[in-house]
Formats: sequence, structure tokens, C-alpha cells
Amino acid sequence: MADLSINFVGIKAPNPFWLASAPPTDKAYNVIRAFEAGWGGVVWKTLGEDPPAVNVSSRYSAHYGKNREVVGFNNIELITDRSLQINLDEITAVKKAWPDRAVVVSLMLPCEEHQWAGILPKIEATGADGIELNFGCPHGMPERGMGAAVGQVPEYVEMVTRWCKTHTKLPVIVKLTPNITDVRAPARAALAGGADAVSLINTINSITHLDLDRMVAFPAVGNASTHGGYCGSAVKPIALNMVAEIARDPLTAQLPISGIGGISNWKDAAEFIALGAGSVQVCTAAMLHGFRIVEEMKDGLSRWMDEKGYRTIDDFTRKAVPNTTDWKYLDMNYQVIAQIDQDKCIKCGKCFIACEDTSHQAIAKLIDDAGNRTYEVIKQECVGCNLCEITCPVEKCITMVPQDSGKPYMNWPKDPRNPRAELV
Ligand SMILES: Cc1cc2nc3c(=O)[nH]c(=O)nc-3n(C[C@H](O)[C@H](O)[C@H](O)COP(=O)(O)O)c2cc1C
Ligand code: SF4
Ligand code: SF4
Repeated sequence: MADLSINFVGIKAPNPFWLASAPPTDKAYNVIRAFEAGWGGVVWKTLGEDPPAVNVSSRYSAHYGKNREVVGFNNIELITDRSLQINLDEITAVKKAWPDRAVVVSLMLPCEEHQWAGILPKIEATGADGIELNFGCPHGMPERGMGAAVGQVPEYVEMVTRWCKTHTKLPVIVKLTPNITDVRAPARAALAGGADAVSLINTINSITHLDLDRMVAFPAVGNASTHGGYCGSAVKPIALNMVAEIARDPLTAQLPISGIGGISNWKDAAEFIALGAGSVQVCTAAMLHGFRIVEEMKDGLSRWMDEKGYRTIDDFTRKAVPNTTDWKYLDMNYQVIAQIDQDKCIKCGKCFIACEDTSHQAIAKLIDDAGNRTYEVIKQECVGCNLCEITCPVEKCITMVPQDSGKPYMNWPKDPRNPRAELV
């Protein structure tokens, strides 16, 4: 059976599934139940200076799919609203009772060295395994010069990371904000400051929807609202790309990554790991479905690893990174063509409409004398865009079949159709 245990920058955990810094990790009561359910670790809800933050009511909103499933989640909460001492006492007790689980403490303080120098010995005294610097919170805290206000300025990221490395021996994980043009800049800055790892993503600036009668966005606080932080499965593609960007960057390729953003099941987790993450963190999925989702995550990952012959997490960590490249290095001679399985087709016509109206008019709608419809791909017109396969409601009814062009790999810099081709 696969070994799910990890050693992430010296922080050991029985599995790679950690709860991200957020309400699920806000107090001992939650964290203990999470550990009982099987989570490998937690990043404790962000601690700050006293007096603690004060939250508003209401705080969350959602972007729903057609059947009211939550696609994306939005919040305007701040860091912990409990006193520093209560949190420190609870972290100490939890770590003592669960020595085999990872307990990382998230921190957010003003950009003054003495503040960081003052809190770090207190965190060490709890027995916690590491710290995570919250440079990502996009609402409320940036207005006070913290959170994303630090994460968006690489020089600040480097400076605060260096202070932390100076004042603690604990591993320092720098949590990055996605609200930035190029996530590689703060990742490089974190590395320059001595970070042991980065974690990403924190939440994305967002407004989910409006009450058009009251002309106010959600979550409404009386008659006003503000932008919040977006997370949940909708952000997974953005997070995955940012993780890959850092894993692919020659300057940060060796920097350990804790992957966060929309992870809801074992497959999401495996994808983050394959693209560079050494541990994964989950928030929204646990908030929506409870702590027991970790059972499916552990079972599913373990079963898949057995199937593939991966004995440890390290065996497939970063395995998809070399296959993730810049557009210009893709093979211009590669060709796929859509193929419809007529036995599976329910004749709904969705593929036809999609290709006819917005793509390449490469699907023919044939009607016989009895009025029966058949949809057929016109091979010579199909560019292999995948749109019909994406729109088809029947799984595996349309497949994209690679064609043998007989031509060797050729990238865009070498393509004669490229006016700037590097002629050899
Ligand atoms: C209600 C809520 C509160 C959060 N509070 C914090 C926080 O205090 N510190 C922090 O670093 N991230 C915080 N986050 C962000 C999460 O840790 C995580 O980075 C983000 O939600 C993306 O992961 P997900 O898609 O699994 O939710 C919070 C998220 C939510 C939904
Ligand atoms: S792959 Fe694209 S071009 Fe080809 S049939 Fe489907 S929608 Fe049309
Ligand atoms: S979308 Fe799928 S099921 Fe519908 S007509 Fe096209 S191939 Fe058939």
C-alpha cells in the first residue's frame, strides 16, 4: 500500500492533506476533530497583534452553478478574532496531544521588525512545526498595510521573510497572493529572503453577485458591501497555473511549494503535487462538506498511487512539470480530430451548434428520409479544438483522436510560417 507520509521542509505529516489557515483551523475544538477525521496537518488561522480583529456580519457569499452547487466561495473575514494568548495556549495543547500531525502557525503583523521579533519566540514555545506568513489576505488587512499589501511588493516580501528567518529557527513558509500580475516575482523575493517554502494561493479579489433590488453586492453588511476573497473549486485552474509557474521558473524550481486553491478531492491534490506541490491545503471544500472529506482524499490518492506503482508522494511530485511549457515550444505538427461514437450519441445536437456557430463548421447534421438525425465530423475541416468534446453531455461520446501526420516535432520558433522563425 502507498505511503502517504511527507516531510515538507522538515515538517513531518502522515499524509499531505493539511487544512489551510481559515475558520476550520481557528480553534482547538475544530483542529482536534480534524485530526480525529484524519487530516495530516493544519495551518492555524492567522494570528496577529492584540487586540484581535473584529469581524462584520454577514461575511460569505457564493457563486452557484445551475443546481445550486457552490462553484466559488467568497469571504470578507479578517484574521483570528480571538486573543493571541488563547490561540497560543490552544496550539500548545493541540501539538502536545497530536505530535505526529503538522501544526503550522499563520502570522500577519505590521511591517516592523520588532513586532515579528516579539511574536516568533512565543510561536516556538508552543511546539509548532513551522510558520506561514500571510502576505495574501485581500480584504480589510491590506487597508492596514498588511496581507496582500505586503505580498504585492516583492521588496517587502523579502524584507519580512528575512526578519523571520533571523528571529526563528522554525521553517518559514511564505503564503503568496494571487492578486498580482506575475506570481514569480514574490516567489523569487521569498526565496531571496531565505524562505524555506512558499504556499499559494490565498484568495482572489472578487464580487460574486448583487441584490439588484437593493443594488448591493453580497455579502451585504447593511446597505453596503466590499470585495472579498474568492476560493473554492472555481479558483483551482488559476492556482494550479501559479504553482506551475513557480515550479517551472529556473530561479525558483527548487523552492518547495504547498499547493492551495480549490482542492476538493484526491485528484485535485494529485494534480497539484504533479505540478510541483509537496503538500496541499484545503479550506472551502472542508467548510462546505465537513472534515470527513479527507477520508476520500486519502483513500483515493492511495488507491491511485498503488495502481500507478508510486510508492511514495515523492515518486510523482513534479512529474508533470517538464511537460508544462511555453506555447512556442508546443509541436506545430501535432494534430487531433474529433470522433463521434454513434452508439453513445443521443442526437442532442449540442456539438453541431457549438462547431457550426462558433468554431469551424466541421460537424455535419444529416437527416435521412425517416427524419432521423446523425451528426458526423467532417475530418478535413476539423482543427481539433476540443469544443464539441467539451459541450457533449455524454461522457466519452466524442474523443479526440491523434492523427499520424508523418512529420517530426516542430516548434513555432522553427516553423517556416513564423515570420520571425529562427532559420537553420
Ligand atoms: C472564510 C475564510 C477565511 C480565511 N482566512 C484566512 C486566514 O486567516 N489566513 C490565510 O492565510 N488565509 C485565509 N483564507 C484563505 C485560505 O486559507 C485559502 O488560501 C483559500 O481559501 C484557497 O483555498 P480553498 O480554495 O481550498 O478555499 C481564508 C479563506 C476563507 C474562505
Ligand atoms: S474539434 Fe472543434 S473543429 Fe473539430 S469538430 Fe469539434 S468543435 Fe468542430
Ligand atoms: S453533443 Fe454528443 S450526444 Fe449530442 S449530438 Fe453531439 S455527439 Fe451526440
